Amino acid sequence: MRTPLIAGNWKMHMTGTAAAELVAELLETELNTGAQVLICPPFTALAAVAEVLEDAPVHLGAQNMHWEEQGAYTGEISPAMLVDAGCEYVILGHSERRQLFGETDEGVARKAAAAFAHHLIPVICCGETEAQRDAGETAAHIRSQVTAAVRGLRAADAAQAVIAYEPIWAIGTGKTATTEQAQEVCRLIREVLAEVQNEEVAQAVRILYGGSVKPANIAALMAQPDIDGALVGGASLTAADFAGIVNYGEEA
Ligand code: PGA
Repeated sequence: MRTPLIAGNWKMHMTGTAAAELVAELLETELNTGAQVLICPPFTALAAVAEVLEDAPVHLGAQNMHWEEQGAYTGEISPAMLVDAGCEYVILGHSERRQLFGETDEGVARKAAAAFAHHLIPVICCGETEAQRDAGETAAHIRSQVTAAVRGLRAADAAQAVIAYEPIWAIGTGKTATTEQAQEVCRLIREVLAEVQNEEVAQAVRILYGGSVKPANIAALMAQPDIDGALVGGASLTAADFAGIVNYGEEA
């Protein structure tokens, strides 16, 4: 079935040296879960992290990219550049990119298609604001974000995509969605995938929960039928915490 995925989003933290140290520390920790492990350092630390990882069973991803192959796009990074730096995954449409840097559903869809064209697996983020949740608009919002991101993908590609549900009010706030709230939206995402793509795609896609995930709450989240992993921000910056999340089976 679906292999669980625990992903660390380091955001704008860590120089190359600090990143290499953190990864080395992580590799010294016993990572004994059946989950795949992914870390997403900032662009400038990718090469340093790739060097430390070598053949370790930890995957490397970036936090964003442009959809174009190359060209006059000052400040942007192309899919091929990420592959060259050792990436297999790329986070797309994180709520911070959408809220602070004007990313749109359309841009996220173009990026997702470009990722697959370069054999990168996108981790496509969606999530509602607190105001949207309070107004009862969560389902409609998630439905439209997920539909926009996956409807143009070929089914064979869509089946490999990862979707991260991150309620914006739970990111970096210490407020976690209840396991029921997280499961409810992750199940909705699977339903939308079945409608927009097909049931096979819906069953294959890994759906992660993100937002204040910690060693103490990961086991309950992983026990939900439609939650296949986590996208971890703050707690991925400490080797012990991240390892505690990766080894979620031991917390149960
Ligand atoms: P957090 O961030 O774990 O610090 O809440 C999650 C994310 O933004 O991916």
